[in-house]
Amino acid sequence: MGTEIVSQVEAALPVSIDSERLTKRITPRADSPIEQDKPVGQRTTVEQAESVHTEQPVEETKAAGIEKPKIRRVICKLRKACRLASTNLSKYPHYLPVWDHGEKYSPWEPFTHIEHGKDADPSFKDLLIEESKLHHLTPSTGSEVTGVQLSKLSNAGKDQLALLVAQRKVVAFRDQDLADLPIQEALDFGAYFGRHHIHPTSGAPEGYPEIHLVYRNGGNGEFESFLANRNSSVAWHSDVTYEEQPPGTTFLIILDTPEVGGDTAFVNHVEAYNRLSPALKERLHGLTAVHSGFEQAEFSRSRGGVVRREPVKHSHPLVRTHPATGEKALFVNGGFTRSIDGLKNEESEYLLKFLVDHIGRGIDYQARVRWAPNTVVVWDNRVTSHSAIVDWVTGERRHLARITPQAERPYETPYVGEAK
Ligand code: SIN
Repeated sequence: MGTEIVSQVEAALPVSIDSERLTKRITPRADSPIEQDKPVGQRTTVEQAESVHTEQPVEETKAAGIEKPKIRRVICKLRKACRLASTNLSKYPHYLPVWDHGEKYSPWEPFTHIEHGKDADPSFKDLLIEESKLHHLTPSTGSEVTGVQLSKLSNAGKDQLALLVAQRKVVAFRDQDLADLPIQEALDFGAYFGRHHIHPTSGAPEGYPEIHLVYRNGGNGEFESFLANRNSSVAWHSDVTYEEQPPGTTFLIILDTPEVGGDTAFVNHVEAYNRLSPALKERLHGLTAVHSGFEQAEFSRSRGGVVRREPVKHSHPLVRTHPATGEKALFVNGGFTRSIDGLKNEESEYLLKFLVDHIGRGIDYQARVRWAPNTVVVWDNRVTSHSAIVDWVTGERRHLARITPQAERPYETPYVGEAK
């Protein structure tokens, strides 16, 4: 048991996390679900695709029999890597990831999600104010907005944000202040969009388990080892779809970014659905598929990582309807969808493989967001999947914080026939 913290620098370099912090145990805040939940959670989950981004640090020091915090210090083996890392101190050290092995949650209880995009004013007048600019990244998918401060939006503006994101699937907002606000204020902003998800395995800033962190230090041969057993870093997934109520409007805040590289790619599952033939759409109607968090939990356990909540599986419709736009989207992803209910193994595997491949190769309905300091990317996790692109070899840190409000239980409205 103990807290693990990723040190932001090598042992040989100045450590900017003070030693008190390294030994302090996490004390849940009064409003944290840690206190609401009874101890000994019965579920857990790990999204391998996500774990890749906040790998559990290796325990480096183990004093036999003594309960001690586990601290990862990245050992600098190459002088060059040391030099690079020394110029790469975290801009947001209070956002560095921590893993607390004592942190356990009981299963999620269902909650009533309020879809704020549903009755939002489609003129977007409270969101896209006069001085703002919006341009589309591709015709069908992705937009970029400047001149809007998300943290200052009125409730009407937030409703319109949910609608705009549902329509465009992903929107990058530049020049934001969310990263610079106290973490609790960023969380309060995100809470408007749904109950905060707590990731079962990923690192979180100390005391804020509702924040999911993506963290790559970039040095020490990290990329060589990342690509040692894979040909590409592309790992399309929608976040934590094994939950009964997976996330909807989701926020990713950049903290540190390589100057070039480390983009995030998004794919539009509504458009992927629209491209199918009427005959296949009709066949998919009514089918459900199993989404599982067991493999993610097992992956974390096998590496000595945390499992904050025991893993779950849920069956969700293969095609889901978005509550604000009424659009239908394929709801499968390579990260968590394991099988199609009611089909034999080979049938399920072939159909799932077709759907996942179809989504992954749809460059004509994908968008790629280039990060820049102070960018916040907002996507609708119900109708997209995404992948980080691990392509920079400069030793620069990539560090992001995700706010992940949960949404409704996926549902599908009746199939309306089209001409075949
Ligand atoms: C995520 O998978 O939620 C984060 C994507 C990224 O690292 O770009």
